[in-house]
Amino acid sequence: MKLINIVGARPNFMKIAPLMVEYQKHDWIEPLLVHTGQHYDEKMSHLFFRELGIPEPDINLEVGSGSHAVQTAEIMKAFEPVCLEHQPDAVLLVGDVNSTIACGLVAVKLGIKLIHVEAGLRSFDRTMPEEINRVLTDSISDLLFCTEQAGVNNLLREGVDSEKIYMVGHVMIDTLLAHLDRAMKSTILHDLNYKGYLDGDGFVLLTLHRPSNVDDPKTFTRIMDAIEVIQKDFPIIFPIHPRTRKNLKTFGMDNRLHALSNLHLLDPIGYLDFLKLQASAQLVLTDSGGIQEETTALQVPCITLRENTERPVTAEIGSNQIVGSDPERILKAYNNVISGNIRKPQIPPLWDGKAAERIVQVIQKVYSFSTTTAGIIS
Ligand code: UD1
Repeated sequence: MKLINIVGARPNFMKIAPLMVEYQKHDWIEPLLVHTGQHYDEKMSHLFFRELGIPEPDINLEVGSGSHAVQTAEIMKAFEPVCLEHQPDAVLLVGDVNSTIACGLVAVKLGIKLIHVEAGLRSFDRTMPEEINRVLTDSISDLLFCTEQAGVNNLLREGVDSEKIYMVGHVMIDTLLAHLDRAMKSTILHDLNYKGYLDGDGFVLLTLHRPSNVDDPKTFTRIMDAIEVIQKDFPIIFPIHPRTRKNLKTFGMDNRLHALSNLHLLDPIGYLDFLKLQASAQLVLTDSGGIQEETTALQVPCITLRENTERPVTAEIGSNQIVGSDPERILKAYNNVISGNIRKPQIPPLWDGKAAERIVQVIQKVYSFSTTTAGIIS
């Protein structure tokens, strides 16, 4: 089976890594890795390949940044000749970024089978570019792998045939569990201590990059109002996304941030260092999707600076609280965490490090490359 695997942006890399390892155990799969180049620099891309042992992409489309229309169109234009040349049996997509929908559209129109890993997640917020990518990708996919039950329910409600849907757990958690021991050996805390950023009494980790938060100066300012209060209690470590750094400058907010003595801006950091920071933080503040899940797997308190989540299991049984951008709500959630006024989180079903194994078993069964179907969850 010739299987083209697509990655493009930072959150895709940790999702594809365990699948690339799993394929090596199956000689009936001939995997090809295509990097669209949506994320392209050392700190947003190359570093993750090295740290996670992902093989060099077989093909790099090198599309880079652009508006949504331009980026999506450039990926489509570059990916179509790849499909025509390599004639894959299927294309496997992960997540919800522009690269996901762009490659999905190309494949489906060429009659190539489409497999979506991390299907069915819905924030029900159509102003979010990723929500559009999720809904469209799922509607054209032939095989849909879900990380949590809400994903399965959403797909069934949208009329997707139940035979196409498989609840398999989460490849991103496979990667977390596979690399946690190595990550705990990272020297990042030592390095931050040496720089005088930590005081030995705990710290808060912050990430922000959602357009709804950082492209609007009013919302961004409200979040910063809460950050200003929290940094009086704890040092805040803030590895900053390129979009956010750009906007801080554009909105003239960088001076305000630099004036906060206990808020420490870092360039984007690698997977292992970031995992160590998450595992060691008192609290994580974020607007990322994946970090809500990683903190749930690590059972570290997380406050999500968004009005909704497409990953409800993290708030229902995990360590996540969804609070939006209102400083009062953020500080209320923060006070609950530091006073211990939160319930004990649980790990969601099947987040056990075996999602990639299950996915490959299902592919084998469905596309009749099968010798065994034991242990498949449908
Ligand atoms: C994208 C994804 C988002 C994901 C995020 C993780 C979409 C619609 N969004 O958002 O789901 O959570 O990645 O990072 O696909 N840039 C660099 N270096 C890079 C890559 C980007 O400087 O290697 C800059 C670009 O010039 C651009 C900005 O960062 O101005 C945003 O990049 P883009 O890919 O448009 O979207 P993200 O905000 O990263």
